[in-house]
Amino acid sequence: MTYEEAKKKLEKYGQEHVLKYYEELNAGEQAELLKQVEETDMDVLSLCTSQDRLEKKGVITPLAAMELPEIEEKKEHYYQIGCQAIKEGKVGAVLLAGGMGTRLGSDDPKGMYNIGLTKDVFIFERLICNLMDVVNATGSYIPLYIMTSDKNHEKTVAFFEEKKYFGYDKSFVIFFQQEMAPAADYDGKIYMESKYKMSTSPNGNGGWFASMARCGVLDKVHEQGVEWLNVFAVDNVLQRIADPVFLGAVMEKQCVVGSKVVRKAAPDEKVGVMCLEDGKPSIVEYYELTEEMMNAKDDKGDPAYNFGVILNYLFQVEALEAIMKKHMPLHIVEKKIPYMDEQCNLVKPEKPNGYKFETLVLDMIHLMDSCLPFEVIREKEFAPIKNKTGVDSVETARELLKENGVEL
Ligand code: UTP
Repeated sequence: MTYEEAKKKLEKYGQEHVLKYYEELNAGEQAELLKQVEETDMDVLSLCTSQDRLEKKGVITPLAAMELPEIEEKKEHYYQIGCQAIKEGKVGAVLLAGGMGTRLGSDDPKGMYNIGLTKDVFIFERLICNLMDVVNATGSYIPLYIMTSDKNHEKTVAFFEEKKYFGYDKSFVIFFQQEMAPAADYDGKIYMESKYKMSTSPNGNGGWFASMARCGVLDKVHEQGVEWLNVFAVDNVLQRIADPVFLGAVMEKQCVVGSKVVRKAAPDEKVGVMCLEDGKPSIVEYYELTEEMMNAKDDKGDPAYNFGVILNYLFQVEALEAIMKKHMPLHIVEKKIPYMDEQCNLVKPEKPNGYKFETLVLDMIHLMDSCLPFEVIREKEFAPIKNKTGVDSVETARELLKENGVEL
């Protein structure tokens, strides 16, 4: 993109300030900035001032989960189906590790966080240990695709190298990078990070499959014969990955998606809940639950919207390919965005100062025809680390790990 073209594009979106220091930059910096202007999707910025463009929810009705007693009864059967699929190389795992982890407040990738007390125990290490349980049980390595972003890619790869992949067979691990989106102030003006770089942040976890395709990793998935992908978040240190019972249940029920869920701790707990939306599987956010929905009961007399998602989904690859071109709703999120001030100093704000734009993996569920919510025991499989202290924190996760016999 030439300077003139960049200027024209920026004018269209009212972002001329991006080129303010252009004349001062050296040739390399100028080229970098023009490239960034070319590659950045600026349509999203209009959302800052016209938030009513955000999608509205459809009609919500309950979606029954496969609950623990039913799972217990058929456990062995599902386990065999799941193990068979793993042994045949049909199952891969996708670690979503492109997020900024701002709430935890470490400059390193979240997975590098050390939660150990008497020895080193890194978040990434815990996840690999959990995956190794299945590798050891089935005698088969599971292809592991790790999504990073521009903000943490190098550090993440270097860390895995340094730690020798925590004993995982490196030939089964592939890293790929997600895309970035501009970050803007409340009026929709893009923040600058330096004189030649716009502030950007990872564009959410909803683009993982599109990024896999863009980076050529989907070709690898096909080459490897992988038919199912278990997508999971970096921060749940207790989760079971490629859990054969879960895989078997989803496959047996002929669903194209499975979603691990936990029974809600309280009707107003802040988790997204599985439901049907206009007859298709979906997730209703806690703030979208009406009083009436919170009090609704199923035919057993239990709360009808009772199962919260934990960001551990199993997707059929074929179904993912079928929805790839479909539109995903865009979410606008208030965040603390580091920026360069008028004096050209980098400021790291203490409070949110603008918006970033994200698509979310949970919105992919609604594009699918069928989904099996699969109940797991919260105390055994859900220990998310979002904050340093308090709710969903390093402290609470440590307690849960100890209860599950993990030495810290
Ligand atoms: P969170 O929504 O908890 O976001 O991500 P985060 O960036 O890790 O943390 P905060 O909100 O800044 O404190 C849930 C999962 O989705 C991944 C995260 O790495 C985590 O595994 N994620 C999130 C991505 O891979 N990319 C993104 O753009 C956002």
